[in-house]
Amino acid sequence: MAQNYYITTPIYYVNDRPHIGHIYTTILADVFARSHRLLGDDVFFLTGTDEHGQKVQDAAEARGLEPIQHADEMVVQFQEIWKDLDISNDEFIRTTEARHTSVVSEVLSDLYDRGEIYVGEYEGWYCKHCERFWTKKDLVEGNCPNPDCQRPVSVISEKNYFFRMGKRRDWLIDHIRKNENFILPASRRNEVLGFLDGPLGDLCISRSRKRLSWGIPLPFDEDYVTYVWFDALLNYVSGVGYRRDDAFEKWWPASLHLIGKDIVTTHCVYWPTMLEAMGLPLPKSILAHGWWTQGGEKVSKSKGGAIDPRPLIEKIGLDAFRTVLLREMIIGADAGYSEERLVARYHSDLANDLGNLHYRTLSMIEKFLGGKVPKPGPGGSLQEKAESLKKDCRSLVESYSFNDLLDRVFDLVREGNRVIDREQPWRLAREEKTEELERVLYGVAEAVRIAFLYLSPLQPTTAAKARSTLGLDGTWGKLDEEGKWGGLRAGSEVRIGKPLFPRLEPGD
Ligand code: MSP
Repeated sequence: MAQNYYITTPIYYVNDRPHIGHIYTTILADVFARSHRLLGDDVFFLTGTDEHGQKVQDAAEARGLEPIQHADEMVVQFQEIWKDLDISNDEFIRTTEARHTSVVSEVLSDLYDRGEIYVGEYEGWYCKHCERFWTKKDLVEGNCPNPDCQRPVSVISEKNYFFRMGKRRDWLIDHIRKNENFILPASRRNEVLGFLDGPLGDLCISRSRKRLSWGIPLPFDEDYVTYVWFDALLNYVSGVGYRRDDAFEKWWPASLHLIGKDIVTTHCVYWPTMLEAMGLPLPKSILAHGWWTQGGEKVSKSKGGAIDPRPLIEKIGLDAFRTVLLREMIIGADAGYSEERLVARYHSDLANDLGNLHYRTLSMIEKFLGGKVPKPGPGGSLQEKAESLKKDCRSLVESYSFNDLLDRVFDLVREGNRVIDREQPWRLAREEKTEELERVLYGVAEAVRIAFLYLSPLQPTTAAKARSTLGLDGTWGKLDEEGKWGGLRAGSEVRIGKPLFPRLEPGD
């Protein structure tokens, strides 16, 4: 049954350009969003940028700009790359927009008025040189952990504002235990339960303006700005009109917050307790994916390894890139980033298996059947695989078993190639066994159509093109109809065109 599906990505810091980590998260979210649209769901897909806080203030300062000037420049890089990568987000939220800052102020005032935020003493380890607070566990041999500093720190105690997070510990444990799909995968769920085994303190949500001015002012104390995470997490509700628009009732609670494994605590502990205090229901699922690594380390700009995939996209095409990127990372696990591996995957899955099946099938329809789709017949093993995919698609998508879904699509593709090798349509043509020839070629052409149907969330442009090469128009309908065996129309003309996934030659 059609449902409302609201999906979010983390909002990205504008201290840096987008890199492969951000790109993976956003493409994965896009593929989920498009898959739900294919299933017939009503989808809202939100992404955006996190523009306040120390990191952004520091990055702006280093460039001699005001933070907002810096953010205005950087945000364009995100907006442009999402366009270039064919990301189908419905909204883009910046935390410096009034529609967000005003919601943050109202939430703060409300929580303060209800005693959920209180003033207290904060004790932290302060580095004068870096002008930053650290916690005890951040320190390296008792000194500032910034590798360029490493100076002694001093314990400072100052007035700050706290959100009553700690008293919600038992309630949160209970929610996590009762809702198996709240935190995914199970390894992250266990990690959060382990974290909650210890005591849970209240959350310091203020930063003194003496040290950090780039933030949303606390509505009840002008000497402070809001802690960047308290501000940023609220984008998930401000971005769908919380306190402003009836649409909020339609979309909240979110179906999925997709995040990386490094931001699990903020999303699975801070955010649920904030929502509970605000009287809002919790998101249905929070899914944490792993890291792209190089040399065993997380890829990140600060480690000097920011990967720009654009040269690879030039080589293999955007849709192929989106596909191999998702094929190479099992959701939840880490994966080593290697262009060679992605290219090898391109050759095996796309050039050899799918591209080859598409090209040889259409060539044979042209050569042996005058370029016309034959009449439908029983599809044997191909039909069986296609029908079981249709039956399982929603549950595979909903359980985020996307890698399994893709395995099964490529299994259908390989079966298509096996059927051709076994039945040898060129022999059937020679022996003038027309009925059998038509049955075989209809079956493999239909398998091509169905494979592209399931790949259309990953390959929006190529799948539309493939559909039109099969004598249909370039627009996919919903899975309910399109997933049925027998969608190709007898008599329609195929248009073979160039191979969809050409092999790369040395030097390409
Ligand atoms: N601004 C916060 C999120 C606030 S959400 C309310 C933030 N931003 S970030 O730009 O640093 O990171 C955003 C996302 O990119 C995170 O989910 C993070 O896991 C992901 N990635 C950054 N580097 C990554 C890899 N090397 N591999 C995979 N994803 C990683 O955190």
